[in-house]
Amino acid sequence: MRNLGSFLLYEVMRPQEIITIKRDGGELLREQIGAFIDGVCDGSWADYQISAMLMAMFTQGLSEVERDELTRAMLYSGDVMDLSDIDLPKVDKHSTGGVGDKTSLVIAPLLAACGVAVPMISGRGLGHTGGTLDKLESIPGYNVDLTTEEFRRIVKTCGFAMSGQTADIAPADKKLYALRDATATVPYIPLIVASIMSKKLAEGLDALVLDVKTGSGAFMQGYDDSVRLAEALVRTGNNAGVRTQALVTDMRQPLGRYVGNAVEVYECVKILRGETLPGSEDTLELSVELTARLLVSAGIAADIDKARELANSKLQNGEALEKFRDNCALQGADASVCDGPEMLLANGLNEYRVTSKTDGFVAEADARSIGEAVVIIGGGRTKAEDNVDHAVGYSCEAKIGDEVKAGDVLGVLYCRKPADAERVSEKLENAYKINVEPPTRSELVKKAI
Ligand code: URA
Repeated sequence: MRNLGSFLLYEVMRPQEIITIKRDGGELLREQIGAFIDGVCDGSWADYQISAMLMAMFTQGLSEVERDELTRAMLYSGDVMDLSDIDLPKVDKHSTGGVGDKTSLVIAPLLAACGVAVPMISGRGLGHTGGTLDKLESIPGYNVDLTTEEFRRIVKTCGFAMSGQTADIAPADKKLYALRDATATVPYIPLIVASIMSKKLAEGLDALVLDVKTGSGAFMQGYDDSVRLAEALVRTGNNAGVRTQALVTDMRQPLGRYVGNAVEVYECVKILRGETLPGSEDTLELSVELTARLLVSAGIAADIDKARELANSKLQNGEALEKFRDNCALQGADASVCDGPEMLLANGLNEYRVTSKTDGFVAEADARSIGEAVVIIGGGRTKAEDNVDHAVGYSCEAKIGDEVKAGDVLGVLYCRKPADAERVSEKLENAYKINVEPPTRSELVKKAI
């Protein structure tokens, strides 16, 4: 791409001049992208000018250099965490979001038990996908609104902290994301990369692993798009000096046994206790795999087999559970959840059972439909300001590939009132497809990048 406005490089360019360059297919220079992001943050670009620029980027495209410059400018629109007083490799996992996607709650304490520090900034659920912060808040007292100082102290004390994004982290992204949402410019890979990586790079990491979901419950549903997103995220991370890798993983069906907030925490504490529930095996497998990748990147394990062995041993000997207990106490939560995770399960909920109409094999258990059903009964939010009912959820009693008989229970919805079940029963019934033949086996981890 040519820069059609480079003669203006050393002059102050007006927003419309910078927009013109991108509108006409030119390549923006670092200074021009910097001026755009400065204008987003200081209010000197009007929303209509920012929106026009986003649309020009969306339609004309961004080169790899522009994508990385945009990421850098968005990153430095806020603070980069300084964890230099913690003398351990700093690592994190980020998922592009899915249904029943709860691995953070296993991975963070597990990594801490393996001797790395995890400054995990997480988000809330929106749409059909859940969010780590909502899940954590189902533990009585758990505080996810840590100040930067509290966050740093907790990472230093117990090896990991999990908190929401403060206003100081990549503030440009908040404004840009809201305008992308309103102008139909979200689904463009370089903009997604800049948005995700500007926030992750602010954690001051040595290594990062990305879990890029693919399938109906994923943000990027098509496999090729998911791979392209994973490749772009990895390149941007590595270009920024953070050892970055990605796994593209299956999100056709929910991950694990439960979908919901408290029930997902319950599932994770059971895993940390070495009491993995039937249907949770994929949660355990993916948590260990993502952890192991980071242990190799951080130089803690010599190869992936040794890393898996180390991670499994820290689950079996209870050290990961103890890290979670320490963290709960430090983040204000009732740490007895580690001894009796059943305390998370609400009494008196209505149960609605989805059953199989025929004999056969489960060929589909559509993640998006199940995620949407949980949102509709109050377990998620459609608008950022909605409240979440932490208790409600769904239990996946049968997973893709399982053999079932007519009348067998495929899943159980836990809701507040029978009318809630009526609103989603058809959606849940339609989420399943039962075939006479078993489906071809599909890997949980589809590609490593
Ligand atoms: N998640 C983000 O944080 N940003 C995007 O643009 C898309 C998903």
